[in-house]
Amino acid sequence: MELYIDTASLDEIKQAHDMGVLDGVTTNPSLIAKEKVPYAKRLAEICEVVKGPVSAEVIATDYEGMLKEGREHAKIAPNIVIKLPSTLDGLRACKTFSEEGKKTNLTLCFQPMQAMLVAKAGAFLVSPFIGRLDDVSEDGMDLIHRIRTIYDNYGYKTKVLAASIRHPKHMVDCALAGADVATVPFAVIKQLLSHPLTDSGLKKFVEDYRKAFG
Ligand code: E4P
Repeated sequence: MELYIDTASLDEIKQAHDMGVLDGVTTNPSLIAKEKVPYAKRLAEICEVVKGPVSAEVIATDYEGMLKEGREHAKIAPNIVIKLPSTLDGLRACKTFSEEGKKTNLTLCFQPMQAMLVAKAGAFLVSPFIGRLDDVSEDGMDLIHRIRTIYDNYGYKTKVLAASIRHPKHMVDCALAGADVATVPFAVIKQLLSHPLTDSGLKKFVEDYRKAFG
């Protein structure tokens, strides 16, 4: 499973990149708002560090506006993926960008038919939001399973990018469900390496060695 980081923080992106396991980045308007830097500037900085797909979301909610913003984002670097909402206008923009050879990430996907339609429109990625479904007593992981089955049934090439991931268990379940990619906050990426037996085992190895050899 590919691993993207879900942040607009350059510091977090650099740290995750240095771990050697980072395949891409997703950003969104809320994440960039926290950074208080112009979106285009930050996207250019991110693309200097990460050569894999970097999702840049449009703010516009209408077709024409999405095309204008998406084209501006795409000029920043060749690895920019235009992030569009899974709406009617988003679907139309997805089709237009696909015909132009531009990659898209269709976000805010909460039900399987959104995923099927965006695949038909040529999306490179679809982003089902697991955590936000869990938050309203639905089963986010079930959506990943359903999309995986539909895509496999019909051979759709769109990659399933599991988003809104809140903890390592989500990651395990995504990998078992066959998600192609997971986009994860930096705090959760760090949790993926954490186990108390690793910590206590390492402590004991170092203590034993020092006792014997100083
Ligand atoms: C995905 O691309 C989104 O940026 C993100 O995963 C949303 O996560 P949240 O529900 O934790 O805000």
